[in-house]
Amino acid sequence: MHIGQKRVYTAAGLFIESKLYSRYDGAMKNQSKQAETQFAQLAKPYLQHPEVQQMASYIQHGTISTLDHVTRVAYTAFTWANSIGVDVDKQDLVAGALLHDFYLYDWHDRSTSMPHHATMHPIYAAQNAARVFDVNDHVLQIIRSHMWPLPLTRLPQSREAWLVSVADKYCSLYETILCRREKRRKVSYDL
Ligand SMILES: [Fe+2]
Ligand SMILES: [Fe+2]
Repeated sequence: MHIGQKRVYTAAGLFIESKLYSRYDGAMKNQSKQAETQFAQLAKPYLQHPEVQQMASYIQHGTISTLDHVTRVAYTAFTWANSIGVDVDKQDLVAGALLHDFYLYDWHDRSTSMPHHATMHPIYAAQNAARVFDVNDHVLQIIRSHMWPLPLTRLPQSREAWLVSVADKYCSLYETILCRREKRRKVSYDL
């Protein structure tokens, strides 16, 4: 499933997305301008890359693109780390979160998707991350383990990996509920 219009993310666009999301999530209320600037600086090299931009062409949940999803997961994990005050490598955290679903195909389309998407897409994403970016083993581990407990053996092995794995589940649930609400609203307009 492809989205008709491709969204291009800039640092400014990222702020707009972040601010929109903060209206739904109290966890972001207390983020300082300094934290937002730091997040944008860390995310920019990834978000500006044309292959990362390709994620805007694929649907992740309902009407949410994969690029919107990974941006939301990255900002959420970054915000949680700041709010809890836990000592993390923010560069690895943001890189791992932005690339955690960097598998680059439409998982809804069986003719173009890769085998065993549910369990294997973290491996495909890590392969693409290593091919496109000079990422370290820690970032690759964050990507590979984000679907834990699927499989049980691919356990997150750092605070950053746990933050991304939990933020991914939280955002996926949020996006699924948001999409249902939008669908319901659309149905009522149609009536
Ligand atoms: Fe995923
Ligand atoms: Fe995800």
